Amino acid sequence: MAIPPITFGWFLPTSGDSTCLADPAQRLPQSRALFDEVVDVVDGGGFSYMLMPVNATCWEATVVGSYYAARTNNIAPLIALRSGYCNPVLSAKMYATLDQLSGGRLCINLIAGINDDDTRADGVPDTKEIRYEKMDEEVQIMKALWAAVSPIDHQGKHYQISALMEPKPLQAPHPPFFLGGGSDQALEISAKHSTVHLFWGDRPAGIAEKIKDVRARAAKYGRADQIQFGMRLQIVCRETEEEAWVAAERLIAGATKFELANMHGGQASAEGIRRTSAANRDVWRLLEESGNSLKIHPHLWTGISMVRSGAGVAVVGNPEQVAATLDEFVDAGCTSFCLSGYPHADAARIFADRVLPYFQGRMSESIPRAA
Ligand SMILES: Cc1cc2nc3c(=O)[nH]c(=O)nc-3n(C[C@H](O)[C@H](O)[C@H](O)COP(=O)(O)O)c2cc1C
Repeated sequence: MAIPPITFGWFLPTSGDSTCLADPAQRLPQSRALFDEVVDVVDGGGFSYMLMPVNATCWEATVVGSYYAARTNNIAPLIALRSGYCNPVLSAKMYATLDQLSGGRLCINLIAGINDDDTRADGVPDTKEIRYEKMDEEVQIMKALWAAVSPIDHQGKHYQISALMEPKPLQAPHPPFFLGGGSDQALEISAKHSTVHLFWGDRPAGIAEKIKDVRARAAKYGRADQIQFGMRLQIVCRETEEEAWVAAERLIAGATKFELANMHGGQASAEGIRRTSAANRDVWRLLEESGNSLKIHPHLWTGISMVRSGAGVAVVGNPEQVAATLDEFVDAGCTSFCLSGYPHADAARIFADRVLPYFQGRMSESIPRAA
C-alpha cells in the first residue's frame, strides 16, 4: 500500500478565540478581523485545509468557507456538515458549486452533532442514531448525484430522490469526505465513505488500535487501502519545553478539574454532550486517567478538556518534541493533522515556522484526494 504524503490543516475559530480558556474576560469574540488574521497565516503557511466547525455559536460553516475560498489562493475549506440539517440535493449542489468556484478546493467534514439537546433545540428532533442513518444516505445521494448523467433513483429509509443535478464538482470523483465521530456507527460510516477519518487526541498506541479496527471495517467495502486517518489536536509549542508548559498552564489558569460546569454552556451542556458523543466520552475519560499531571504521554496534555468539550488533547513541547510526537501518530498510521492552538493566528504562525520544517519532503500542500 502506497503511503500518502502528510497533510496539515488548521482550525478557524468561528465560535471565538481566547488567550485563557478559563477566563471569559480573555475571550476574543468572532469577527471578520479575527478570522482574516488566522486565514492569512494559514493560507501562506504550508497548510492545505482549514476546518470550519459547526455548533450553536459558530458562524455558519459553508458561508464562511465560501467567503474565504474566494479570498485565498491555497487553502481548502474543510466544511462541517451536520447530517439531518440540509436537504442532500441542496448540499450536493452547494458543494459542487463551491468546488467549481474554488478551483477544486473543498473538503467536507461529516458530523452527527455533539449534543442531542442542541440538535433538538434547532428543530431537528432525530436522535444521533437516526442522524447517522441520514448521514449514510446523504453521502450516498451526493455521490450518486455527482456521478449521474441521468436521474438517480434513491429509495432510502429517510430520503426518496429522483433528481438529476448540475453542476458537478471539479474534483474527481468528488471532494474528499472527512468524518469525526467515535461510536460504532461513526466508524462504520467512515469505513464506507471517508477519505480521512479524524480522531480527537489519544495515546498513539490507542490510535493504532482504532486504525486497525476502522481499516478492517473498510475492507468490507473494498476500501482498506483507500481510507486515511488524521488527528485533530491542539498545539502548544514554544522555543523551550519549559516555556511551552508555562504557556499551557496559562491557558487554563483558574480552572478546576472535573468542574464541567466551568465549560462554555455549563453543566447541562456538558451532560448532554456526555450522553450524546462517544468520541467526547473518550476525551473526558483520558482527562480522568491523566491524574494530577494531566499528561497521558510525555508531550500529550489533557488540560484543555477541563474547560471545553471536543478537541481537548494538546501536544506540548519545543518544536522538535512537537514534531516527534506527531511522528508517533504517523507511525501509528495517521497521514493528516487537523490542528489548532490559542490564540489561533499566533499558534499557527509558530507551528508553520518552527514545526512544519521537520516534515519537509514528506508533506504535501495538496488536500487528501478521494479515490
Ligand atoms: C475530529 C472531530 C471533529 C468534530 N467536529 C464537530 C463539529 O464541528 N461540530 C459538532 O457538533 N460535533 C463535532 N464533532 C463531534 C461529533 O459530532 C460527536 O462525536 C457526535 O456526537 C458523534 O457521535 P459519536 O462520537 O458518538 O459517534 C467532532 C468529532 C470529531 C472526532
